[in-house]
Amino acid sequence: MTDARVAIYPGSFDPLTLGHEDIARRSLKFVDRLIVSVAHQPTQEKTRMFSVEERVAMIREAFADEPRIDVADFNGLLVDFCRKVGANVVIRGLRAASDFEYEFQMALMNRELYPDLEMVFMTPAGEYTFLSASLVREIASLGGDVSQFVSAPVRRRLEART
Ligand code: PNS
Repeated sequence: MTDARVAIYPGSFDPLTLGHEDIARRSLKFVDRLIVSVAHQPTQEKTRMFSVEERVAMIREAFADEPRIDVADFNGLLVDFCRKVGANVVIRGLRAASDFEYEFQMALMNRELYPDLEMVFMTPAGEYTFLSASLVREIASLGGDVSQFVSAPVRRRLEART
């Protein structure tokens, strides 16, 4: 019996979108257990729409049907969190060429810091390639309908907030 393959799916998830959910669920085709990991730094928290606790709670609710997806939060370096939980695979979504430069730089830097780490880049379903958490925040805060971009646990919180 081989060891279970554990991967981290890190991000700000402010809030979780259907694009994030799509990537997480797709990754279960080759990962045994996925830890959706909310990154937070004390200095950035006041710029967030949702607190870490709210983001963890909405992600937990969104994946309540999927026992292979866990939710965690971490501060500090991603590589340190990966070492702590014993994961050497990190999943990231790539929507368009505009994501590439930042992701490529981060992947190479993370590898410098943790040579055993493998970053796996996944494309979401076509209908989510234009979707971003920042646009969802903006649309919701201006009173727009975000029901096609986020799942019910996220939508409820956005409605309560705006
Ligand atoms: O959803 P985001 O904001 O694009 O996610 C970026 C994230 C959280 C994955 C990245 O900022 C990160 O890994 N932060 C943790 C701190 C860290 O390790 N920084 C060094 C990156 S090379």
